[in-house]
Amino acid sequence: MERTLAIIKPDSVKKNVIGKIINRIEAEGFRIVEMRLVRLGRDEAGAFYTVHRNRGFFEDLVAFMSSGGAVVLLLERENAIAHWRAVMGATDPAKAAPGTLRREFGFSIERNAVHGSDARETAETEIGFFFK
Ligand code: CMP
Repeated sequence: MERTLAIIKPDSVKKNVIGKIINRIEAEGFRIVEMRLVRLGRDEAGAFYTVHRNRGFFEDLVAFMSSGGAVVLLLERENAIAHWRAVMGATDPAKAAPGTLRREFGFSIERNAVHGSDARETAETEIGFFFK
């Protein structure tokens, strides 16, 4: 069993598709270990995405992630990290495969509906960020 951190981003919360995304999470065989609706402050969003702090898109990303509610989930499944990334699809919804969450619900590379940890080490850090 492996664990990963998923976020239903503020664009999805505003579009009222939390339930649809959670349905998909369950249909894909994940167990929801923990889940919380949060409103990130700018500092918190910046701390979460600190690996991107020197990227040109960082300020926009922080503003977007702190613009409204988000749902953070601790997911468990065999091969959870890679499987969740496959279900999300490519970062840019325009490049995401049909049937993926980002293709279905994403709007742009920034407003891309969902987040998922990209590796074991990141998953541990990201899970620890929200769930003590
Ligand atoms: P996420 O998987 O949450 O991880 C980092 C986020 O930064 C990513 O999804 C996108 O929302 C955002 N991002 C990545 N690359 C770009 C980019 N080139 N322009 C704007 N936002 C980006």
